[in-house]
Amino acid sequence: MGRYSFSYTLVITTIFSTFPLFITTIFLCGSTLQNKVESLPLSTNGRWIVNEDGKRVKLACVSWVSHLETILAQGLNKKPLDDISKSVKDMGFNCVRLTWPILLATNDSLASITIRDHFSSLGLVQTIIDIQKNNPSIVDLSLIKAFQEVVKSLGEKEVMVILDNHVTQPQWCCGNNDGNGFFGDKYFDPDLWIKGLSKMADMFKEVSNVVGMSLRNELRGPKQNVPDWYRYMPKGAEAVHAANPNVLVILSGLSFDTDLAFIQNQPVTLSFKRKLVFELHWYSFSDGNTWASMNPNQACGQITRNVMRKAGFLLDQGWPLFVSEFGIDLRGTSVGEHRYFNCFMALASELDFDWALWTLVGSYYLREGVVEMNEYYGILDSDWSQIRNQTFLQKISAIQLPFQGPDSQESKHNKVIFHPLTGLCVLRKSLSEPLSLGPCPNSDGWEYTPQNILSIKGTYFCLQADGEGNEAKLGTTCSNLNTKWELISDSKLQLSSKISDNSSVCLDIDSNNIIVTNACKCISIDNNCDPESQWFKLVDRTMS
Ligand SMILES: *[C@@H]1O[C@H](CO)[C@@H](O)[C@H](O)[C@H]1NC(C)=O
Ligand SMILES: *[C@@H]1O[C@H](CO)[C@@H](O)[C@H](O)[C@H]1NC(C)=O
Ligand SMILES: *[C@@H]1O[C@H](CO)[C@@H](O)[C@H](O)[C@H]1NC(C)=O
Repeated sequence: MGRYSFSYTLVITTIFSTFPLFITTIFLCGSTLQNKVESLPLSTNGRWIVNEDGKRVKLACVSWVSHLETILAQGLNKKPLDDISKSVKDMGFNCVRLTWPILLATNDSLASITIRDHFSSLGLVQTIIDIQKNNPSIVDLSLIKAFQEVVKSLGEKEVMVILDNHVTQPQWCCGNNDGNGFFGDKYFDPDLWIKGLSKMADMFKEVSNVVGMSLRNELRGPKQNVPDWYRYMPKGAEAVHAANPNVLVILSGLSFDTDLAFIQNQPVTLSFKRKLVFELHWYSFSDGNTWASMNPNQACGQITRNVMRKAGFLLDQGWPLFVSEFGIDLRGTSVGEHRYFNCFMALASELDFDWALWTLVGSYYLREGVVEMNEYYGILDSDWSQIRNQTFLQKISAIQLPFQGPDSQESKHNKVIFHPLTGLCVLRKSLSEPLSLGPCPNSDGWEYTPQNILSIKGTYFCLQADGEGNEAKLGTTCSNLNTKWELISDSKLQLSSKISDNSSVCLDIDSNNIIVTNACKCISIDNNCDPESQWFKLVDRTMS
């Protein structure tokens, strides 16, 4: 977390039982979950992360915070460990990014303190009572044993784990001057860091659901520089690999992990192959006030190009990119975050990168001196008993499944017309019903021809505009102006067609998610308009 912290057949139904059970059930009909923990360990094949059978495994993770002063993974005062692990799985995540501080691995006297004594020393008396109630078998374990229990519990639910070294000192992260930012900072001794990484890698070498290690979160601060990055990051990578050759080794960039552009000029050379992954963080506040203040089409176009230049290019160079932090305040009241997130969804679907949402945590035991701080970015609510924002979860469920993979056959290539605002795709349900939004796995395969015609693959049907305010149609006369669709605006996310020589419309949805065409929004430099209902992305699909 960065510096400015503060249907048709997809039916997502959430059933919550009351205390003491914590049951979340998501029924995904019409699609198959392809992300079971199977055939580990993972490795890389070009830009894809694959399992032992060579099949793509898309990391769809959520961050679980275990690096604060309390060290223990958050939430064990609210729910039993196994229930939290199960909820991760039930929400459709296949992986947890579990954060940890170096001292947990290198300071034995710290690691061996019991949770009861540790929380007691922090004055968290009520929290101990609550942990005792929800997790009686954990409260008297040592901090390091409890950390292992969390990993084990996730494994039992077939959830993979990425161990993320977040800080050296247990504390909230990250500020430019918190002494944990870059090699040589007050609390960032490279030798101690390497020792901690080795110990952690070794500790989990027999634990198959630990599939990756992120070497350090959000490098930053006045000392950061490229030569030292190349001096130390490969050493950390080699140390992890020597201790545990099974894990993916994940390297972060500079400036709070927003910048990997320097890799373009100087590749990373390591002794091992097919295990290296790069990670990127991308929040709305990574771009200052741009999202709220600029025309949304311009902002999305400009920031997307920026992300591609700073990290996205790695995919083209054949490296997996793990967007290991993104997220929004799930109260959903920020205009800027809303625009950012829809733009994020468009790029996430197109690039089909691996990712980890910030965060699972509904509330913290203790964060920055505040007891029981609510986490508005948390997918669970402050009691860890409900999903904080069901609409949001439904939306990201669209990118939990892969669109593409390494084993693609040309004949299977097609596209879906993805709608980032809803996380749904344009569907033809039957010939008598209008086109509407529905779950992407149910979408026909579309083709986008060089003549700008959008047709359903293997049929004569193409998409036609039928005038402003009217439903878009499927027809078989595919040569008129109203069958040509251009991607317009700076975001290139609006599909526009002409309904006469001098009049264009854009694909849009109505309040019932029926596909219509309306006047194109936010084409001129208006900063207060919201075009996102008209944002569509033509996403390549090779898996189905
Ligand atoms: C190790 O942890 C103990 C217990 O928290 C603490 O007293 C000590 O200062 C720590 N040592 C180092 C080197 O951080
Ligand atoms: C959930 O988030 C969306 C934006 O993604 C927002 O419009 C909505 O109001 C939020 N719902 C709740 C209950 O906070
Ligand atoms: C389109 O052009 C025609 C012919 O030039 C003109 O009569 C008509 O008013 C124009 N319509 C619009 C909406 O500008």
